Amino acid sequence: MCGIVGYIGSESAAEVLVDGLKTLEYRGYDSAGVAVIGAQGLDRRRAEGKLKNLSKRLRAEPLSGSLGIGHTRWATHGRPNETNAHPHRSGSVAVVHNGIIENYAELRTELQAGGAVFHSETDTEVVAHLVASLRDQGMDLKTAVESAIKRLEGAYAIAVVDEDFPDEFIAARLASPLILALGEGENLVASDLPAVLPYTRDVVFLEEGDLAHIRRDGVTIYHQGEVVERQSKHIKWSPAAAQKGGYKHFMLKEIFEQPRAISDTLSGRLGQNGEVHLEHFDFGRVEGVEHISLVACGTSWHAALVGRDLIENIAGIPVSVEYAHEYRYRRHLMGAGDLVLGISQSGETADTLAALGEVKSQGVRVGCITNVLESAVARLCSDSLGVIYTHAGPEIGVASTKAFTTQMVSLHLLALGLARQLGRISAERSKAEIEDLRHLPHWMEQTLEASKDIAELAPFASEFDNYLFLGRGTLFPVALEGALKLKEISYLHAEGYASGEMKHGPIALITEQFPTVALVGDDALKAKAVSNIEEIKARGGPVILVASEGSEELARVADKVVLVPKVPERLQPVIYSLPMQLLAYHVADHLGTDVDQPRNLAKSVTVE
Ligand code: G6P
Repeated sequence: MCGIVGYIGSESAAEVLVDGLKTLEYRGYDSAGVAVIGAQGLDRRRAEGKLKNLSKRLRAEPLSGSLGIGHTRWATHGRPNETNAHPHRSGSVAVVHNGIIENYAELRTELQAGGAVFHSETDTEVVAHLVASLRDQGMDLKTAVESAIKRLEGAYAIAVVDEDFPDEFIAARLASPLILALGEGENLVASDLPAVLPYTRDVVFLEEGDLAHIRRDGVTIYHQGEVVERQSKHIKWSPAAAQKGGYKHFMLKEIFEQPRAISDTLSGRLGQNGEVHLEHFDFGRVEGVEHISLVACGTSWHAALVGRDLIENIAGIPVSVEYAHEYRYRRHLMGAGDLVLGISQSGETADTLAALGEVKSQGVRVGCITNVLESAVARLCSDSLGVIYTHAGPEIGVASTKAFTTQMVSLHLLALGLARQLGRISAERSKAEIEDLRHLPHWMEQTLEASKDIAELAPFASEFDNYLFLGRGTLFPVALEGALKLKEISYLHAEGYASGEMKHGPIALITEQFPTVALVGDDALKAKAVSNIEEIKARGGPVILVASEGSEELARVADKVVLVPKVPERLQPVIYSLPMQLLAYHVADHLGTDVDQPRNLAKSVTVE
């Protein structure tokens, strides 16, 4: 939530910052702003709403200068208006911030007593006044920021400029992500990689508590006042990964990228003899496992439900699936045989991190599945079980698509790896599973061919205000995900239910105006799933049926049918997810909503 960028070099800072913010807008789009230091000193432009409003403002009132900071906001403290937009300023100092300063009220009172005049309702403004007051005491910018952050409680990634220091800026982080990017005669910081990739692929993932002093010709990193060396990493992604590449929306591009994304998830991890290698995950540490808790939020939680079945069925280990926000406050009855695994696309969801941190501090082994390299969750687990990267590439659309399918496949790999490690699967069986997984991208390509038919179905599907999504077995989580996708981006009300629960309440809702999206797998539960649909039809409810090829006769119980390739049962959740994503996408596109940036949402939820 919230994205920040900082730039120093020779190009127009305002342009670099706005381009960077474009790639970070998924983190929030309530307001945006930049502050630039040029010949005229420090100046800023801010605008309520999306980045395009700021761009318009900058066209009318440009800012020149080659040093600046920028921000895109998801409002926490204070309404989403221009006054609360970052950068916040105090005298010669301006600050952008991602995170929450928990002791801001106390600092605000103290600073006001010292004469500071506050303009916004934000927690961030205290940082600007605090740094400015320390500068007034004669400290240079770096020393002032270093002293200021010692007073801050909570989470922050900040970038600070001061017009008295036109050739440098300072950035620091604690519990919010911040990347330092090292260019030629230019250096940047940003909340996420896509913002810096057009300038350089050499980056440093700043560590907790690091502070960076950034100049055109170099950077110095400090940790607790001491200069430290941090290894830079060369990133292989091309900047094009974070562009729309001819698609109307990022979401559609990301839906179509999934066969490639799954190939990347699998790449280098499947052995000839049924073995699974997960480079940063230590199977050697799972000995004695008796129970696994999968902890996640949102779409990642749906992936966890699919993962439970995979791990239980393949590795024979009992699994519980937990919402991180509930789990973190529960009493944890754990023993030596417990493992806790977090699943988080962004790797920075506050509740997932807190839940893992909590159990880790009790001595429980923790691991994670994440898409973001060196993310907070990856770091937290790196000295325990480790991390499984999904390798989906940057996901920009706020509604998660390729992150979900790559999470499910990562869980499949985990299940196979656990089963091998514990000797619960034969090499032959494992080889067969691996063969199926290798074939998965091809089946996904075939499934995506349904996009055109689903687009044609969108005008019909857009006529209703409420939806029920039904699935059984491993298609129940997919029904939950389908309902979530539809409500997130089309704003139609949708609920996911296990088909068997239908008669216990939801059936009362069925009318000609209350449609059901029914998922019918080619599995042992097929006949039961069909009976549930018959019950809906008998009550006049419209049905959009998703079933596998060979089930054409089921057209009799449906108003519309989408057929997907017949695949091994364990792969059905991945395949059936695709029509769910396409249905939500085409309905939202038909209704004309803002598909990539739906109202009120942010891609990563870094506050409770
Ligand atoms: C937000 C996003 C969802 C995501 C959830 C969990 O709600 O909008 O798409 O599933 O957070 O995020 P994570 O990064 O932890 O997977």
